[in-house]
Amino acid sequence: MGMLNSFIVKLLPLFPKPFISLFSQRYIAGETLQDAIEESKKINDLNMTITMDVLGENISELGEAGTAKNILLQVLDELHENKIQGNISVKLTQLGLKLDRSACEDNFTEILEKAKGYNNFIRIDMEDSSCTDQTIDICLKMNKRYNKVGTVVQAYLKRSENDVKMLAENGINLRICKGIYNEPAIIAFKDNEEIRENFIKLINIMFDKKIYVGIATHDSLLVEKARQLTQNLKLSPEHYEFQMLLGVSNKLCNQIADDGYDMRIYVPFGEKWYTYSIRRLKENPKMAGYIIKNLMFRN
Ligand code: FDA
Repeated sequence: MGMLNSFIVKLLPLFPKPFISLFSQRYIAGETLQDAIEESKKINDLNMTITMDVLGENISELGEAGTAKNILLQVLDELHENKIQGNISVKLTQLGLKLDRSACEDNFTEILEKAKGYNNFIRIDMEDSSCTDQTIDICLKMNKRYNKVGTVVQAYLKRSENDVKMLAENGINLRICKGIYNEPAIIAFKDNEEIRENFIKLINIMFDKKIYVGIATHDSLLVEKARQLTQNLKLSPEHYEFQMLLGVSNKLCNQIADDGYDMRIYVPFGEKWYTYSIRRLKENPKMAGYIIKNLMFRN
């Protein structure tokens, strides 16, 4: 079935959109902000916080960046109005990074000002390696204006140890994840064991400096190792939290929250759900297996 699943994964973009939508519902809160607010309330009721993501990246004109900015401003208002325990995750390409850096910074600044008014935190998601330097630069610059701005470091990048050391030195709140983009071997570890080792190394740097870290993984082995480390170091909860994507590992996140750890769920929503869904489905070839079964055994 493994090879068949990989084959299906390659074919995924050929499936009709409504069909993909059936399988992606669990990964996305919905198309509207209202859907995302409802989902966030449910997650808060389970004693977990959220970070909201407006789907859509790598836009082709600046007008789209303005639209994305306006939605993000609205998200901040709604999180506040609805007393949601949560913040936002922002992709800089969505705000125009690749089209006009200064327009991107202006868009981000508006978001920052709004977040400041609510005393809320902003996470800058990390995109592919063509964005790493600029994302880190912008994060450092914005953090000087408002210190509740942090970013993400990917354990698969060889440069990340240096980045984490430098960012921790600057007191930047980081999310550590494995990394989702397909990067060349010259700059990225390809072996899962190496990526895991680096993940733990990066988390240790953050623990050591006592700078807040979001441990973003569904890998039960990494979760276990991180839990052991926090216990050995007697780290208190104000130094770290676990983070997972909506719909990926419900059992594991419930267990972490039930054990008393801070657990945050990444809640994507928006009209541009299709690219995100394909990415999630590609990461999970078993899901592709369900797709073929469904195709073959439909009435
Ligand atoms: P791994 O891929 O080994 O998965 C561990 C287990 O989780 C798998 O065995 C499987 O059971 C389950 N699993 C994983 N993905 C699944 C799926 N789609 N469906 C069902 N089960 C699945 N990346 C990035 O480059 N920049 C970023 O800013 C972020 N942001 C981010 C935020 C949060 C909260 C999370 C959890 C992740 C990210 N990522 C990210 C994505 C991250 O880099 C990585 O690609 C995924 O988390 C998958 O890696 P894991 O560590 O979960 O391990």
